[in-house]
Amino acid sequence: MNQDKINVAVIAGGDSGEYTISLKSASIIMKYLEGEKYAPFLVHIKFGEWYCLLPDSTKVEIDKNDFSITVDKKKIRFDVVFTAIHGTPGEDGKLQGYFDLLGIPYTSCGSITSALTFNKAFCNKVVASTGVTVSPSVHLIKGYEFSIDDILATTGLPCFVKPNCGGSSVGMSKVKEKEHLLEAIETAFKEDNEVLVEKYVKGREITCGVFKNGEQIIALPIVEVVSKKEFFDYEAKYTDNLAEELIPAPIDSATEIKCKETSILLYKALNCKGVVRFDYIFNESVLNFLEVNTVPGMSSASIVPKMAQYQGYTLNSFYDILITEAMKQKMK
Ligand SMILES: Nc1ncnc2c1ncn2[C@@H]1O[C@H](COP(=O)(O)OP(=O)(O)O)[C@@H](O)[C@H]1O
Ligand SMILES: [Mg+2]
Repeated sequence: MNQDKINVAVIAGGDSGEYTISLKSASIIMKYLEGEKYAPFLVHIKFGEWYCLLPDSTKVEIDKNDFSITVDKKKIRFDVVFTAIHGTPGEDGKLQGYFDLLGIPYTSCGSITSALTFNKAFCNKVVASTGVTVSPSVHLIKGYEFSIDDILATTGLPCFVKPNCGGSSVGMSKVKEKEHLLEAIETAFKEDNEVLVEKYVKGREITCGVFKNGEQIIALPIVEVVSKKEFFDYEAKYTDNLAEELIPAPIDSATEIKCKETSILLYKALNCKGVVRFDYIFNESVLNFLEVNTVPGMSSASIVPKMAQYQGYTLNSFYDILITEAMKQKMK
């Protein structure tokens, strides 16, 4: 462990269905941080089990009082955290709040932005206030009454039913008939205490990664996601050949510019940090905001690394920019 290197804790795991994806993201990040400048440490976080996995595969428990490890009686502190946990507690503001308390900078959005954007219903309200189109929806909270007819008056059919704070399309359904709506809501409530029922938007799915480098906010090349399933569901997301990612997206330049400008506007409006990915459905005239991923996948199959490489960044240089930006955020 070289004293001159910057100690980076690459946090991975998490408590959601995206656990395995997170480990894959982290292993790519670890690989590209190896070198002269950084000493990357894989920190596994799952429920109460927090440990650092050393290169010789020994597990060293994390001291949660100061987020440090002790190896050979020597305390090792981390200079910065690289967030690779998708879903809770790495993408919803919980760990961000913990690191803020300890004064340790991290590569992802701050705690409030993370919490807001992880709540699809609340995020849609803020996004709509900027003038960007969002699909009409109804936000349901467990324990409060709701009426199927009132929901349908807002959303019509087909509609999408999703856990409000979910990810990876888990617990989500596309409902085409009224008699299936209640069952879909109950399925989504198994994943979360809040459910969002959203009007279906027909169109093509496009996505734009945005990050900050110094004074510049940069939109990466746009990708179109083409699912072979009814929608971009869990299976399509994680099974080879069930979805295709087209880079650059085959869209006209006016749409490309509009998508990039909208994504930069939202990055600023939501006060994002690090690299985030804005997802839209484009119906050939309107760009409909779908969601923002503030800890996007970083595995070899993920979209953001492809976007960055297509733009000409090596993953070493891209991750270096993200860490350098994060370290500027160090709490005073
Ligand atoms: N309102 C909608 N209209 C059309 N398709 C939708 C809508 N909402 C979700 N989908 C489909 O479901 C997928 C997952 O939805 P999303 O809101 O991104 O949830 P997750 O956070 O689980 O990825 C989208 O990529 C899209 O294919
Ligand atoms: Mg999504």
